[in-house]
Formats: sequence, structure tokens, C-alpha cells
Amino acid sequence: MTGKAGLVTGAGYGIGRGSARHLASLGAQVAVIDRDVERGHETVDMIAADGGPEALFLEADVSDEEQVAHAVAATVAAFGRLDFAHNNAAISPVTGNTVECSLEHWDAILSVNLTGLWLCMKHEIPQMVSSGGGAIVNTSSGVGLLGMSHQPAYVASKHGIIGVTKAAALEFAAAGVRVNAICPGPVLTGLTEQGLLDGKYTLDTLASLNPMKKVAYPDDISGAVAWLCSDASAFVTGVALPVDGGTVAGLPSFRPPAA
Ligand SMILES: NC(=O)c1ccc[n+]([C@@H]2O[C@H](COP(=O)([O-])OP(=O)(O)OC[C@H]3O[C@@H](n4cnc5c(N)ncnc54)[C@H](O)[C@@H]3O)[C@@H](O)[C@H]2O)c1
Repeated sequence: MTGKAGLVTGAGYGIGRGSARHLASLGAQVAVIDRDVERGHETVDMIAADGGPEALFLEADVSDEEQVAHAVAATVAAFGRLDFAHNNAAISPVTGNTVECSLEHWDAILSVNLTGLWLCMKHEIPQMVSSGGGAIVNTSSGVGLLGMSHQPAYVASKHGIIGVTKAAALEFAAAGVRVNAICPGPVLTGLTEQGLLDGKYTLDTLASLNPMKKVAYPDDISGAVAWLCSDASAFVTGVALPVDGGTVAGLPSFRPPAA
């Protein structure tokens, strides 16, 4: 990724921090975008400590179009180019089921997770088109491919991300802009830590959800992000790639293994 530059939203923690650090370790200049200023600066400091190239923190709430436009423009102003973007920021507050979920929760989740991601693409794509192309990676989820109970707005937002990813991929393929989604399974990050601390589940519970029986960390996701951002995936666009240790590959079998 040496010579390339781009941005990662939600890079103040979790999967976004992991991909920002990984992309920088491969030589890319990265704009770390988050609404959490302290954590955003921490990620930039980590990239410097890793020995990576110059990184930049930009404060922005992805649900605010003016802030998104400013962050994209500031990335291009700082690095002179926008080769890749990992649109990753999201929230997942506890909402209850479809009947229990409040309109406030519904609007807040859709506005960050889906509208915010679309706003990022709306401002990134013209920059990429004007320089001959680029690669966008949107973070969906396993629950962008399958349903899950008790998080209706989150599940809807993650399904929506796959839809808008495919639409943009078709629209801008001929202009050289590739648009793909990743669909992680459960990963140990800010979204999942609280449940562990509250004793709602354990590391074993998280590991039991995938056929590899592995607790996943951001580093388990960042290689797939970097591949989709790089020229190694130059003929790949419009895909929703599970990065989940096989979770959405199928159902557990009820048949015992043959003796
Ligand atoms: N952790 C998982 O198990 C898991 C599984 C599948 C998909 N995902 C997805 O991965 C992505 C990253 O989540 P994570 O698990 O790393 O969570 P996280 O909470 O650890 O990190 C999310 C980051 O996004 C930032 N953020 C939140 N709202 C923002 C906004 N409006 N504007 C700018 N920044 C904002 C937060 O400050 C935080 O730094 C999300 O899209 C999430 O839905 C996570």
C-alpha cells in the first residue's frame, strides 16, 4: 500500500483502529476519522509507535454531512489523494425487539450506520472518480446477511449497507471505483466488551458462535479490509465478504459424525 492514501471511519477503536493500523503497517497514509477525539488521537499515536507513515486524526460524526464533506476534503488536502476508504463507524445500542425498539433508537442507529455510510460514499466517490479510481470497503456484518433477534434497527442497517454497496459498485465500476462490503462475525471490540463486563456472555460464548471456535479480534478482520483496499483485489467489486470463521457458511449438523 506504499504510495496510497485513504481514510478509515470509526478508527478510534475496535475494527476501524485495527484496519487503520494494518493499512499503515503496509505503507499507506491513513486519515483516522472518529467522533471520539481522545481515542482517535490514540490510534494516530499507535500508528506512529508502530513506525508507520504519517497519519492524521480528523474529528467527524459520520451522520453529519458537513462534517463528512470536511473530513474527506481534509484527507485529500493532507495527502493529495484518496485511494481507499474503509467506511466502518457504527453504533449498536440495546433496543429490544421489533415491537420494543423506540423510534429514537431506530432513527439514531439508521442515521449513523446506514445514512452515515452513504454520506461517506457520496463524498468519497467523486474524489476517486476524478483521480481515475479507488477502492471502498464498507463494514456490514454477519447480520447484514442473516437475521438476528432483538436488534431490528442494527440488522436493518447492516442489510441496507450491502444494498447500497452493490448499487454504488454497479454505478461506478466503469469509472474505476470498486465498492465492497465485509461481513464480520462477532469480534472483541467496544461493541462487544460491555456485554462481557456486564456478565451477559463470556469469551467462550463468542467463540462458540463460529465453526473455528475462535474469539475474533480486530486483527482477524484487517487483512480482508487491506486486500479489498489494495490492487490485489482489482477485479472484485460488489461483494459482501463474510469474515467470520465460517459462521454464515451453514447450520450446525444434527447428524453425528460417521464412526
Ligand atoms: N464487534 C463486532 O462483533 C462486529 C461484528 C460485525 C460488524 N461489526 C461492525 O464493525 C464496525 C466497527 O465496530 P466495532 O465493533 O469496532 O465497534 P467499536 O465500538 O469498538 O468502534 C466503533 C468506532 O466508531 C466510532 N463511532 C461511532 N459512531 C460514530 C459516528 N457517528 N461518527 C464517527 N465515529 C463514530 C466510535 O467512536 C468507535 O471508535 C461497525 O460497523 C460494526 O457494526 C462489528
